[in-house]
Amino acid sequence: MPGEVTTAEFRRCWRASVLPALRGVVLDLGAGSGIAADHLADGVEWLALEPRARVEPALHARLDRRRGARLLTAPAEAVPLEAGTVDAVIASTVLCSVRRPDRALAEVRRVLRPGGVLVFFEHVAAERGTWTSALQAAYAPISRLVDRGCDPHRDTESSIRAAGFATVEVRRMRAPGVLGTVEPLIEGVAVA
Ligand SMILES: C[S@@+](CC[C@H](N)C(=O)[O-])C[C@H]1O[C@@H](n2cnc3c(N)ncnc32)[C@H](O)[C@@H]1O
Repeated sequence: MPGEVTTAEFRRCWRASVLPALRGVVLDLGAGSGIAADHLADGVEWLALEPRARVEPALHARLDRRRGARLLTAPAEAVPLEAGTVDAVIASTVLCSVRRPDRALAEVRRVLRPGGVLVFFEHVAAERGTWTSALQAAYAPISRLVDRGCDPHRDTESSIRAAGFATVEVRRMRAPGVLGTVEPLIEGVAVA
């Protein structure tokens, strides 16, 4: 529908409104191009985690520009950091892609200091029994192959709620999807 807010627009607004408030050591899970860094305050120590040996040139450029920034070549399921050493974790459209969301979230909890935060923006599985859910389930095996492991049919909100955080706040949104579907989205914060 014309005038509806797209996933990309929701994500842009989320980055601009949430990321500037983060402080200290910030771990960016599945950093991709590293676009999150453009919104981080000066003085933040940005740790960009990517499992791929060959990362996007844009990520290298952003790492070069920010003092103290580091690339961690590892999957979210095995974060190469000591326990309790991170103030905030960013998960932006990445929990759809990791192989083991439960393992990745356990790692997030392990590396966060008490009171540290996970801020997230994710597309998630639609309600069972809907046309969107059926299409997501049918498309998931292809998407996992061609879109860097992305599974559109994941109940990421339940995974976050089950991960043992002290508090979890979630806001749900919907953006237009393909073939008349909707794309359910979540954003929120979980406190360790
Ligand atoms: C859709 S991109 C999102 C990139 C970035 N977070 C953003 O908001 O633009 C998903 C990213 O997750 C990464 N990824 C895939 N599997 C991962 C894993 N097991 N651990 C960490 N990152 C992973 C991919 O390499 C990719 O960069």
